[in-house]
Amino acid sequence: MRVFSAILSVAALASALTAGACKGRAPADSRTEAKQLFDSACGKCHGSDGRGGVPAAEGLAPPRNFADASFQASRTDAELRDAVVNGKGQMPPFGKLFDEPQLTQLVAHIRSFNPKK
Ligand code: HEC
Repeated sequence: MRVFSAILSVAALASALTAGACKGRAPADSRTEAKQLFDSACGKCHGSDGRGGVPAAEGLAPPRNFADASFQASRTDAELRDAVVNGKGQMPPFGKLFDEPQLTQLVAHIRSFNPKK
């Protein structure tokens, strides 16, 4: 019986891990997931605090400060999404790398930097 339940919990763990790895659809905590996505794909240039990281090292213009309320007010969600998919100025296009739920998460994460929120 003990062996059986141990096998069961290993199987549950494995399926939980697979679900988490599956393109950001895990129901778990989507805010945490959005942060991980942002930190790994965008943090290099935008900083995990959204204030702009180290693009100067790559010869790029410093990205916008996402923690600036006037920047936040000047863009619609659709414009933010569009910049990620198609690029903007020196922002590289990510094309089809992210699916819709991930794009929604990224936009929500950019919004979460808004100090007026
Ligand atoms: C290689 C560095 C780099 C990476 C990686 C990067 N960005 Fe950018 N991003 C920039 C730069 C530089 C700009 C400023 C472009 C400009 O204003 O000309 C920018 C601009 C933007 C804008 C548009 C701001 C505006 O003015 O409307 C958004 C939104 C954005 N980035 C989101 C993201 C997200 C989300 C990711 C991760 C999926 C990401 N970026 C990854 C460098 C980067």
